[in-house]
Amino acid sequence: MPETRDPDVPKGLAGPAGGYFRLVQISDPHLLAEPDGRLPGGVRPEARLARICTAVAEGEAPDCLLVTGDLAHEGTPDSYERLSRLLAVTGVPWYVLAGNHDDEEVMHGFFGESLMPGCIRAGGWRILLLSSVLPGQVAGRIGVRAGRDLAEALMEEPAGPTLVALHHPPVATGTPWLDAMGLADGRQFTGQLAGSSVRGVLFGHLHAPFETSLDGIRYYGAPSSAMQFVLGQANPSIETGWGGWQSYQLWPDGRIDSRVHRIEFEQGI
Ligand SMILES: [Fe+2]
Repeated sequence: MPETRDPDVPKGLAGPAGGYFRLVQISDPHLLAEPDGRLPGGVRPEARLARICTAVAEGEAPDCLLVTGDLAHEGTPDSYERLSRLLAVTGVPWYVLAGNHDDEEVMHGFFGESLMPGCIRAGGWRILLLSSVLPGQVAGRIGVRAGRDLAEALMEEPAGPTLVALHHPPVATGTPWLDAMGLADGRQFTGQLAGSSVRGVLFGHLHAPFETSLDGIRYYGAPSSAMQFVLGQANPSIETGWGGWQSYQLWPDGRIDSRVHRIEFEQGI
């Protein structure tokens, strides 16, 4: 992998001795260029993310927070700055990945090269952050170069439990219009993970909670903090009444427990 975050990992990332490491995944906040802007259905993504960050801070005290892409709907620098301020409310270390709506160049300029992609060491786990974004396209791809880096990372440390995070779903969800815009080389990617130290894969893009298992590896799709897609439908269908996030307990022996959290939002937010 291009970079490890070891040297400046905050103490909290060590996790409690003998216990589990607590990771929170927030996904697809889609902050607009205008703070008060609205997504379809009148959804105010910034107000919803603010509510969720407060709920995370008050409720769970996670060890680390990861945002799996589509941070900004239009990729403007100002939206990344506002996102940073909201995430800081949680008071825990946080990391970000780019999604198809993001501008990776702007993100690198704002968050710094060290934030993504890379590797987080946490409570005996290794969390690999991968970029799956193809500029100008909705679907994603790992590609040859990142695939080679991933293979090297998996070979370097074949034992310890590993989690992989990316924006695009590498597995089919039974939702044709969403599956058509997933990870184009998903099959190659999942094949690469089979038999490795990877115990789980987290992704966004689905705007819906999703969980499946392949080759003994758990695959988790997360809800959006702003608005959801309805899985299993032939045509695009959205749900605007709630936003959510996902939490994970990462156990030293490689087990993962996951939980979906939802907040029902009233009209006008
Ligand atoms: Fe999204």
